Amino acid sequence: MGHHRPIPLWTLLLLALLVTVPEGARACSMMNTDNTEQRDALLADPATVKRTPEISMQEAVAQCNRTFIIQPDYLSELNETGSFPDETDRIPLCFMRCYMQALGLLTEDDKVNKEAVLALNWASSADTVDECLDEMNGSTCEKAYFFTRCIMTRALVDGKSKDNK
Ligand SMILES: *[C@@H]1O[C@H](CO)[C@@H](O)[C@H](O)[C@H]1NC(C)=O
Ligand SMILES: *[C@@H]1O[C@H](CO)[C@@H](O)[C@H](O)[C@H]1NC(C)=O
Ligand SMILES: *[C@@H]1O[C@H](CO)[C@@H](O)[C@H](O)[C@H]1NC(C)=O
Repeated sequence: MGHHRPIPLWTLLLLALLVTVPEGARACSMMNTDNTEQRDALLADPATVKRTPEISMQEAVAQCNRTFIIQPDYLSELNETGSFPDETDRIPLCFMRCYMQALGLLTEDDKVNKEAVLALNWASSADTVDECLDEMNGSTCEKAYFFTRCIMTRALVDGKSKDNK
């Protein structure tokens, strides 16, 4: 409190970006700077996490289904609509947290491994990941679920707009 903090490195990186990105994108980045600090707190340090999962998605499902039992149709619903039918049921939400952690998309302390999310093609862009970090509120299971819901919903919207072209 009251002491001056040095200018963090990300500020410099951001400034460098602002200088190089085109006008339209710049307005967007400027708007997002308010959230940057909050978002950074939700991201894993890339130096301490693996970029690629050590197990397959099927293995992660099987592993997490032992503790948080989920029916295949519940998962297809998420895949098809972007959300679970009952968002107040803690078990599927905690399944999502377990699943993300098993794949290394989420650290043990619930930080998003952005590089892995992108490497797995879970999210189509770094911007999507950043924006979805803003949805992470509530309990640890809710955080994982709201992040997933945001990513899935955007993927569905992107897919639809591609289909319409
Ligand atoms: C989870 O396990 C139950 C049995 O405990 C099984 O009926 C169900 O199909 C499994 N879910 C998935 C997604 O494989
Ligand atoms: C998820 O949905 C896509 C189409 O949107 C489909 O190709 C894929 O097989 C589905 N996966 C599961 C696990 O239901
Ligand atoms: C948390 O975020 C989700 C997704 O944006 C929203 O539906 C929910 O109302 C929020 N809950 C709280 C307590 O802010």
